[in-house]
Amino acid sequence: MSKINISIVGAGYVGLVTGACLSTHNNTNIKIIDTDKEKIKIINNKKSPFYEPELDSILQKHVGKNLKATTRFTSISSANIVFICVGTPQNPDGSTNLSFIKNAASSIGTALQNNTLHCTIVVKSTVPPKTTENIIIPIILSESRKLKSELSFIMNPEFLREGRAIEDFMNPDRIIIGTNKNSDKKVLENLYNSLDMIPYLYVKLSEAEMIKYASNAFLATKISLSNEIGNICKKLNINSNIVMTGVGLDNRIGQMFLKPGVGFGGSCFQKDILALIDTAKKHGENPLILQSVLDTNIAQPTRIILLLEHLIGNVKDKKITILGLAFKNDTDDIRESRSIPVIRELLNKGAIISAYDPMAMNNMKEQFPHIQYCDTPEEALKNSDGCLVMTEWNEFYKLNKEFNVMKNKIIIEGRKILSYKGAKGICW
Ligand code: UDX
Repeated sequence: MSKINISIVGAGYVGLVTGACLSTHNNTNIKIIDTDKEKIKIINNKKSPFYEPELDSILQKHVGKNLKATTRFTSISSANIVFICVGTPQNPDGSTNLSFIKNAASSIGTALQNNTLHCTIVVKSTVPPKTTENIIIPIILSESRKLKSELSFIMNPEFLREGRAIEDFMNPDRIIIGTNKNSDKKVLENLYNSLDMIPYLYVKLSEAEMIKYASNAFLATKISLSNEIGNICKKLNINSNIVMTGVGLDNRIGQMFLKPGVGFGGSCFQKDILALIDTAKKHGENPLILQSVLDTNIAQPTRIILLLEHLIGNVKDKKITILGLAFKNDTDDIRESRSIPVIRELLNKGAIISAYDPMAMNNMKEQFPHIQYCDTPEEALKNSDGCLVMTEWNEFYKLNKEFNVMKNKIIIEGRKILSYKGAKGICW
């Protein structure tokens, strides 16, 4: 059986995880392309540039065999499939920065001039609706000097979560295939064919783009709604975790993404909701619910500080311990982590911060070089006047006697994870 040549442009979470997972199929030959030389070097040394469970072990097995990383686009001239997985960061006004997408489309187009196969280009990056049709396809066609009929275009959004990316890629809830040509539908089905029993939904290109935004908006709305309910519960001395468990037992609602806490972080929810609001406004719409989801999320971290001040008074010159810096467990990513606004506000108020995180301390050092980073929770807790638990790391579950070294045993959870009974909760 001949091998499928796959080029993947972008070695971030989506691109590298897609490349690694597809390399586990023995009929694939994969090139991962990124302009960042340092990243390429790390991947070719069989390591991931970021922490993601299980990723290193796949790279160990396949890099140098059917998986290689490069800064050059030459592999595209013999590719059957090209995945676009570059970042679509947020501009300061909330709109989407498409410069990486445009550069990628242009380089792909140029490299396709020498490709004599019928190549399929798959957009996996999260892009505002109509971007594939109105921006990506025209750039690729003009740079490659090919006709629309000589290429296939698919929009196939990726729904993986950091920290569970491999598991999510291998066992997705659904696969969304956006195409504007019936004949393009089956290309990915053949590639993903080992993913049996998974519902495929065939839609238009722009519908696929919108499904990704709508999904993230919906999930973030669940969290902000849970936080609003949680804030009310806290005032009434009602345990919001028990309330949301009861709510989630309704099959129409489901248990996931109903955990109240300090709000959502990460690279997607805020960025994608801002992009959706920006798209809506450009079309004369004013999406009030989406704006409230963000407002609730921005206000949520300040509540943990109010609760701390209520318990210990003024934080000036007090030692406050932050347990958890990553935006969630099982990742070293700190993008939009709720620890950032909390540390910033505590520093503004004159507190002295000690911090511990199993994975994310190096990344946080770039943001806050002058706080104290500790090798263990116990070291961070020594002589502390208060402790805020900001990330749901499993290793925090068993913390108990470690709190004995605090000057003042005031512990507040921003995420429900401790088994320790003496802690207060942000919404419980
Ligand atoms: C998200 C989407 O889940 C994924 O489908 C999409 O492809 C990318 O964006 P990710 O950002 O990796 O994934 O993290 P996710 O697991 O969704 O968590 C986001 C944030 O929400 C975290 O800060 C988490 O702690 C918080 N969260 C999650 C809650 O506060 N409560 C919950 O109930 C669930």
